[in-house]
Amino acid sequence: MPATVIAAPLQSTTPRGRPIQPFDVLDACHQQMVTALQKLQDLVSHLQETRGVDAQAQEMARAIFHFFMDTARQHHIDEEKHVFPAMLRSGDDDLIRHTLRLQQDHGWIEEDWLELAPQIESIAAGYNWYNIDQLTLAVPVFVQLYQDHLALEESLIYPEAKARIAEWDLQGIGREMAQRRRDRI
Ligand SMILES: [Fe+2]
Ligand SMILES: [Fe+2]
Repeated sequence: MPATVIAAPLQSTTPRGRPIQPFDVLDACHQQMVTALQKLQDLVSHLQETRGVDAQAQEMARAIFHFFMDTARQHHIDEEKHVFPAMLRSGDDDLIRHTLRLQQDHGWIEEDWLELAPQIESIAAGYNWYNIDQLTLAVPVFVQLYQDHLALEESLIYPEAKARIAEWDLQGIGREMAQRRRDRI
């Protein structure tokens, strides 16, 4: 579901008729990330209560697994291909330092996710193969890392990128983002 949600707007327009730009898609994905992180926390709370996998846990885990395996990774690729390079070329020391930190975050996010993923996949498949103590410890760390990451992107990097990336380049960026999503379906 999230994959099509992300791919479709690139060929569409806003409700006011303006063509949807890459930053609309990136901003929308951040909203989806906030929702997915909340769902992950809700899943842990749910498992703490039910002490086992039920249909609701399975459905939550399925959505979470798909989101972080696919949509979130595509988003990180979007940023590394199209947002971060302009920041790294800016010549602004602060901007460069923050961008390098964000790049490093992507690696840590991926590492943390790869530790969580087998358990989430197992819950999605209806198995009780998970360790609630480990999830209770690991999920808040993952959520915090992601939230700090999104806050830095939204407060500093996105506004700078929006000001620095030219209209002409945005068209090419939009095409690449849409094409990459079509290619993997
Ligand atoms: Fe990012
Ligand atoms: Fe982001």
